[in-house]
Amino acid sequence: MSASIGQSIEEAKRHLLEGHLVAVPTETVYGLAANALDGKAVAGIFEAKNRPQFDPLIVHVSSLENAAELLEEIPPAASTLAKKFWPGPLTILLPKRPVIPDLVTAGLGRVGLRNPDHPLTQQLLQALPFPLAAPSANPFGYVSPTTAQHVNDQLGSKISYILDGGSCRIGIESTIIGWENGDAVIYRLGGLSTEVIEEAIGPVRIQNHSSSRPEAPGQLLRHYAPKKKFFLGDIDTLLHSVKPKNPGILSFQKRTVPSPSFHQALSERGDLQEAAKNLFTMLREFDRHNIDCVIAEEVPNRGLGRAINDRLRRAASPEY
Ligand code: TXA
Ligand code: MG
Repeated sequence: MSASIGQSIEEAKRHLLEGHLVAVPTETVYGLAANALDGKAVAGIFEAKNRPQFDPLIVHVSSLENAAELLEEIPPAASTLAKKFWPGPLTILLPKRPVIPDLVTAGLGRVGLRNPDHPLTQQLLQALPFPLAAPSANPFGYVSPTTAQHVNDQLGSKISYILDGGSCRIGIESTIIGWENGDAVIYRLGGLSTEVIEEAIGPVRIQNHSSSRPEAPGQLLRHYAPKKKFFLGDIDTLLHSVKPKNPGILSFQKRTVPSPSFHQALSERGDLQEAAKNLFTMLREFDRHNIDCVIAEEVPNRGLGRAINDRLRRAASPEY
């Protein structure tokens, strides 16, 4: 069964006011949204995604002023970041007010807030009397969706409406930042690069890894998992050692590959932004093709490349 898909803000609003789920476009990935202040509606998100309730949700707001109504306080560094990068791919963790149900934050004291940079979702947020809780609109543990079609393919039967805003401009999830004893910590590398954040507020610590009780379960090692076996390293060396009969190959740039194989280049001209935008669509493509495994290489480890490599390493991780 498929959801109804369209571009009507009115329609999206009607479903959300009734407590139903609507998939919404953002500049990073599509989100699976519900009224963030309604515990029952939020419970529906966990159910549709098959998401464990220890994994908290990001809350989407339309301005810093709206964010302030949900928070105990906004420290100066947080307000600097929000003023500079919102709307944009940055989620800020701050102490929440009780108005945010505990289910949204999985009982944690901080809520992750973000103002997404997509015209349709901006309009929708401005038209609604509440903020939107929205994780990425994919089944838990799978690759995030960057088109309305991706959402419909996997969650169509569980969603009232998909607001179609085209393909996501950035293509990987937001960067998540918070503070511990006054020090800035990045919990998830994402669409806003560490370099750009450090220019604004000085040095940050990256705590992008965790195993047992993750502060941000996006840190779970095997989290962006395509279904095919995934090898990451030097492509020629891997082809030689794994000896697949019919491999999928994911390279950063244009290159020659053996035949038969199914090859995709993240960016033929070696552009990291283009690579980020293509990443999740290409991972999904491999799952649709009749290949033995995927052999992939890392991209240059700077700017958005760090977030891309993070997703590739998780896809390749044998652990859950
Ligand atoms: O770009 C994005 O961030 C997209 C779009 C839809 O906004 N959302 C997204 O949500 O990627 P999700 O749920 O797939 O990933 C959010 C991550 C999770 O790893 C979650 O654990 C972490 O953010 N997170 C959310 N709220 C948190 C909190 N209060 N404390 C710690 N981590 C939190
Ligand atoms: Mg997700």
